Amino acid sequence: MRRKVIAGNWKMNMLPNEAISMITELTPLVKEADCEVVLCVPFTDLFYSLLTAQGTNIKIGAQNMHFESKGAYTGEVSGPMLKSIGVEYVIIGHSERRQYFNETDETVNKKVKTAFANNLRPIVCVGESLEQREAGIAFEVITEQTEKALEGLDENQVQNTIIAYEPIWAIGTGKTATKEDANEACKKIREKIAKIYGQNTAERVIIQYGGSMKSENAKELLEMSDIDGGLIGGASLKADSFAKIVNFNTIHS
Ligand code: PGA
Repeated sequence: MRRKVIAGNWKMNMLPNEAISMITELTPLVKEADCEVVLCVPFTDLFYSLLTAQGTNIKIGAQNMHFESKGAYTGEVSGPMLKSIGVEYVIIGHSERRQYFNETDETVNKKVKTAFANNLRPIVCVGESLEQREAGIAFEVITEQTEKALEGLDENQVQNTIIAYEPIWAIGTGKTATKEDANEACKKIREKIAKIYGQNTAERVIIQYGGSMKSENAKELLEMSDIDGGLIGGASLKADSFAKIVNFNTIHS
């Protein structure tokens, strides 16, 4: 059985005082959760968030990092820097980074390798655009992104990679993929991983869905066979809405 991973992605939101308040409020609401609870916060919130989450079941992640360990890369943050303060997860290749910051399959792959070299668990985002979906090439796009992101990893590393399937047209738009479509996409990703790394490895990989997940639709999505968690943007900014997703199995429909 794969343990679900529910991760918040705050994007470029929340000042440190807001981060501290949110995590303080969230802590009692999710303390009984039987899934992994992660918050991926802006760099400036990392240290405050780590301190506030100390001794709780809330794990802290970053939203990006550079693939080199150090050097002349003004404005960048490295894997060793994240690890040194206690960060455990890092989002890699979010579609907003692919779209606005020239993230490519190649840099994603380098970053995934750097994440493992620094004992950080990568949450790798893949997802098709609306045009690609309408052109009928969604599965091709996401399985290719997955294959390239994982290139050169060993089986153990692949098993520890979290893939977030996030259709771009569903991010921040209020449009959610149907549970059947989301599940099918996650299944295709798993099949691709099985083809390359074997069924045993594929069965262990956590594949999340992301894109306008909220308390109202979390349960039906998270109950699907191949959806092992969520990557949540907007609904992760407030403790109560995020907690409802984390505690999805206690929501009665
Ligand atoms: P959203 O964002 O939940 O606000 O759609 C998800 C994401 O971009 O990770």
